[in-house]
Amino acid sequence: METRSQWGTRAGFILAAVGSAIGLGNIWRFPATAFENGGGAFMVPYLIALLTAGIPILIMEFTMGHKYRGSSPLSFSRMNKKSEWVGWWGVLVAFVISTYYSVIIAWAISYSIFSFNLNWGSDTEGFLFGNYLEVADPGQFNGFVPGVLIPLIIVWLVVLGILFKGVKKGIEVANRIFIPTLVVVFLIIVIRAITLPGAFEGLNTFFTPDFGALANPDVWVAAYGQIFFSLSIAFAIMITYSSYLPKKSDITNNAFIVGFGNSSFELLCGIGVFSVLGFMAVNQGVAVDDVVAGGVGLAFVVFPQIINQFPALNELFGFLFFASLVLAGLSSLISIIETYVAGLSDKFNISRQKAVIFGGGFAAIVSLIFATRGGLNFLDAADYFINQFGVAALGLVEVVVIAWFLRKLNDLKTHANEISDIKIGPWWNVSLMVITPIVLGYNMIILLRQNLFQQFDTETGNYEGYPDSFILYGGWFVAGGALLVGIIMALIKWKASKNANENESQNSWEAK
Ligand code: ALA
Repeated sequence: METRSQWGTRAGFILAAVGSAIGLGNIWRFPATAFENGGGAFMVPYLIALLTAGIPILIMEFTMGHKYRGSSPLSFSRMNKKSEWVGWWGVLVAFVISTYYSVIIAWAISYSIFSFNLNWGSDTEGFLFGNYLEVADPGQFNGFVPGVLIPLIIVWLVVLGILFKGVKKGIEVANRIFIPTLVVVFLIIVIRAITLPGAFEGLNTFFTPDFGALANPDVWVAAYGQIFFSLSIAFAIMITYSSYLPKKSDITNNAFIVGFGNSSFELLCGIGVFSVLGFMAVNQGVAVDDVVAGGVGLAFVVFPQIINQFPALNELFGFLFFASLVLAGLSSLISIIETYVAGLSDKFNISRQKAVIFGGGFAAIVSLIFATRGGLNFLDAADYFINQFGVAALGLVEVVVIAWFLRKLNDLKTHANEISDIKIGPWWNVSLMVITPIVLGYNMIILLRQNLFQQFDTETGNYEGYPDSFILYGGWFVAGGALLVGIIMALIKWKASKNANENESQNSWEAK
C-alpha cells in the first residue's frame, strides 16, 4: 500500500518550496555577488542562468520527485539503479550544508538578541570576531563558544521538532507561518531602506551596469552558482519535496512560481541592501564601493554598523533584520535536512521519527565543530568547497547523467506535459543537454585549475590563503567525502520494500 506523506494543499507545497529557496543565499550572497559581477549588468547572465538552468532543472527535479515518488536516492534508483549514487551524493551535500547553515542561523539568533541593546558597539568587526566568535587559528578548535552553542541547540530542537511532526503537520504548517511573516517583515525593512537619505546613491551603484563584465566567463559562472544555491537545486531538496505532491499536480506552473518568486525576493534583497549601504556611505562621506562586503561581513559586520547609524528605532530594525535572517534560514534548513530524513527512511525502511533522530541527531553533533572557537575557519572552507565541488559539480553531473547517459529527458518531459498547463518545448532539452553542461563544465575546469594548481592570489596560493593541511581536510575531504559516502550508501542493500514494489510503484505513479 502506498503510504507516502503528502502536502495538504498546493499552496502548502509552493510555500514550502519557496521557503526552501529563499534563504541565507538570497539575503547575504546575492547582493554582494551581483555587485562584484557587473552590478546591473549581472542581471543579464543571472536571468539567462535562471531560464536556461534554474527553471529547467527545477522542472526536471519536480518531475522526478512526482514521477518516481521517492527521496532523491529512491527517485534516482527508480529511474535507473545505476544512478542511485547521484541521489545520495545530493543528500550528502545537503547533510554537510545543514551542519554549518544551522550555525549561521544560531549567530542570527544571537544578533537578534544583541539588537535590543545594540551590544555590538561601534567596532562591529572587533565584536564579531573577537567578543562574539572568539576566533582561533585555522585548524584549531579551542573549545566551545557558549554564545553560539546555546542558540545552535535551540535551532536543532526547533527544526527537528518540526520535521518530527511530518510533512503536512510539521513542514507545511511551519512554512505557512514563516514565509508570510518573512515577506511582511522584509517589506517593512525595504520600505524603510529606500526612504533613507543616500538610498538613491546605493541603488545607483547597484544598478549601474558594467557591460564589460559580460565578457568575463567568471561572471557567468557566478550567475549559475547563485541560481543553483538560491533555488535549492542540485542538492536533493526539490526532488524530495515534490515526492510528496499528489498525483494531480501542475509541475511546470509550480516551477515558474517558485523560480520567479525566489528571484523577485532576491531582487528585493538587493534593493534593500544597497539602499542601506548607500545610506551608510553618504553618512560616512565615502563611496558605496568602499562599504560593500559579502557573506559574514555583510550581515554581521556591515549591517550592525548601519543599524547603529539609523535615524530612529535602531533596535527595532536591528531585530527585524536578524529575525528575517532566522526565518529565511530556518525554512531552508528544514528542507535541507528533509533530504536525508527521507533518504534514510526510504532506504532502511524506518519511520520518519527514527530518521529524524538518527540523521538529524548526527548532523547536530557534527555541527558542534562550527560552534567552537575555530568554527568560523572550518565553516568558511566547508562552505566554499561544498558549493563549488558539491552543488555546482553535482548540478553538472546530474544533467549529464540524466540527459546524456540515461537519455531520460523526453520521458520526463512527457510526464510533466501530461499533468501541467504550461507545456515545455525544445528550449528545455537544449538548456539541459547543451547550455548547462557547457557553462558548468567550463566552470569546473576553471575551478579545478584554480584550486589544484593554486592560482589564488594569496600567500599560500590556497583559497583565502589557508594553510595546505587545513585546505586538505577542511575543504577537499569534506567535498570529496560527500561523494565517497554517497557512493558507499548506494552500494548498501535496500532494507525497504522498494525493490518489491518498484515496478508497481513506477507504473502507478506514471501519469496516464
Ligand atoms: N536556497 C537556500 C538559500 O538560498 C539554501 O539559502
